[in-house]
Amino acid sequence: MIKRLLVVFSIMIIASMLLTACGGAAASKEIKIAILAPLSGAVPTFGVSTRDGALLAIDEWNAKGGVLGMKIVPVVADSQCAADPAVNAANKVIDQDEVGYIIGEVCSSASIPISEIVNQKMVVQISPTSTNLNVTINADGSVKPYTFRACFIDPFQGTVGAKFALSDLKAKTAFVLYDQGNDYVRGLAEAFEEAFTAGGGEIVGKETYTGQDTDFSAILAKVAEAKPDLIYLPDYYNIVNLVAAQAKEKGIVAPFMGGDGWDSADLDRVAAEGGYFTNHYSEQDTRPIVQSWLGTYGAKYKDADGKAIVPDALATLAYDATNLMIAAIEKAGVDDPTKVKDAMAALQWEGVSGTITYDANHNPIKSAVILQVKDGNITYVTSVAP
Ligand code: PHE
Repeated sequence: MIKRLLVVFSIMIIASMLLTACGGAAASKEIKIAILAPLSGAVPTFGVSTRDGALLAIDEWNAKGGVLGMKIVPVVADSQCAADPAVNAANKVIDQDEVGYIIGEVCSSASIPISEIVNQKMVVQISPTSTNLNVTINADGSVKPYTFRACFIDPFQGTVGAKFALSDLKAKTAFVLYDQGNDYVRGLAEAFEEAFTAGGGEIVGKETYTGQDTDFSAILAKVAEAKPDLIYLPDYYNIVNLVAAQAKEKGIVAPFMGGDGWDSADLDRVAAEGGYFTNHYSEQDTRPIVQSWLGTYGAKYKDADGKAIVPDALATLAYDATNLMIAAIEKAGVDDPTKVKDAMAALQWEGVSGTITYDANHNPIKSAVILQVKDGNITYVTSVAP
């Protein structure tokens, strides 16, 4: 009898050891998520913020046990806000790292070519911040099944800017400066022009430049001559810094207005003083979810003097996009991009930057904020709901 009990007992011990071993193996299974961001190139603050926001979301999920019992492993690649490096980075993370999920890119001109690849290779992509219409839809207007974004789109952003210029700034005339070779800049310039004209404003001039230009004196001479009430410059901060500084030197006093591309710790606030821009989020938003996000981010990321870093829109949207991706994996219940994309399309997620639910084109409907560069600070002006 005792012998029998001993046998049963040892079988139980062995069984439980085996179970633990299997359990251990299951818990150590990993799921990779790639973060494609411009860590080098023309706009590195975009990349650093995006990476840091995304990594924070992954850390939080891992601290709670990961997703579906798997540890989430980030794979970070530098896609430089440009088509070729973005394509190389996407192919590398998919083919070599065997990633099934991509957060990125920031810039529309990089997210669009990545979207072509992921929809061929059946990998889920969510861009935190790419606002151009063509990121999520094909030329024929059909939706790209594997591509999503966490931000509003430029037809909305351009309209918000135009309406604010007309009704709040009382601008009657505007001059538009834009980089024709940049999908985001061109698309936003077009959206602004359309809405500004529809609202009764007049576009008194329109000039293009390229992303490589550094001397804007010829086009600024035309701006000076046209004397517009407002100059619309929907480019990234690196170009805004150059153009706004050169406009100041020329004695141009009309305010500049732009879009989310102005959002950078490296925006030249002296040159851009008095300017306005549309954006996704303001840290001056009093909603509790925003205030607790500031605390979490600031506790993890400090500047060289040990001061808490205030997350910008890029960090915030990367955090939201990453949470959304992982929540979709959890909802799908399986590490399978074909299932996760369907779960994502049906998801409702309460993010720091607002609630995200997808329309048929994988665009969330979200509010914009208007910010002003005032006395060297970025000041919240108002929010505009769609
Ligand atoms: N919306 C920009 C694009 O599509 C990217 C961007 C978003 C840049 C937010 C700065 C802040 O290219």
